[in-house]
Amino acid sequence: MPTYRIAPSLLSADFARLGEDMRAVIDAGADWIHFDVMDNHYVPNLTFGPMVCQALRKHAVRADGSKVPIDVHLMVQPVDALAQAFAEAGADLISFHPDASIHVDRTLQLIRAAGCQAGVVFNPAMPIDILPWVIDKVDLVLLMSVNPGFGGQSFIDSALRKTEMVRKLIDASGRDIRLEVDGGIKVDNIRRVADAGADTFVAGSAIFGQKDYRKVIDAMRVELARA
Ligand code: DX5
Ligand code: ZN
Repeated sequence: MPTYRIAPSLLSADFARLGEDMRAVIDAGADWIHFDVMDNHYVPNLTFGPMVCQALRKHAVRADGSKVPIDVHLMVQPVDALAQAFAEAGADLISFHPDASIHVDRTLQLIRAAGCQAGVVFNPAMPIDILPWVIDKVDLVLLMSVNPGFGGQSFIDSALRKTEMVRKLIDASGRDIRLEVDGGIKVDNIRRVADAGADTFVAGSAIFGQKDYRKVIDAMRVELARA
């Protein structure tokens, strides 16, 4: 069984008490914190920038003192300057949409040179044909199972087929690359996403929409542990 990771998306947290909500979801067992950056240009919505990431960084720590990785999902265009700023703000992983960067290989190099893990993100209707050309430089592939811009949308089923395709490419590469799926993931479909080959799951509204975050995360883990 792969090491599964659950990455709650702060997009659905209470922005009036963001730090508190992040700590609560960490105490509830979050493996990563998914940080959705929207610029009102690449996507029709606007969220938070590197200063907010920097302010949260020191609070993204478990009770035992271990650091919780901040998984920055850039929905911005252009990419490079903000990727650099998020690296300086303490991001651990930085993913971007290749269609938002003119020089994808260069952006990946920039993120890794800044000391972060680098990821590429594919929208539901985007082909993955660039992947073989950059697979030696990615640490994470993030597949969108909704159109980016908003939380609380329904899972688009074609993402499962794409997950299967990317799983094959990753396995053939022999590299240690995480395969993360983002959008519309709930307790009742997480198992299907895992069966398609994902090992990391973003969930926003499914977790923050409930009072008891631990109950949801535990229920997701029960689904993932099912044979
Ligand atoms: C959408 C974001 C997602 C979003 C997922 O643009 O990238 O991370 O927060 O939210 P849910 O889990 O509610 O679909
Ligand atoms: Zn996201």
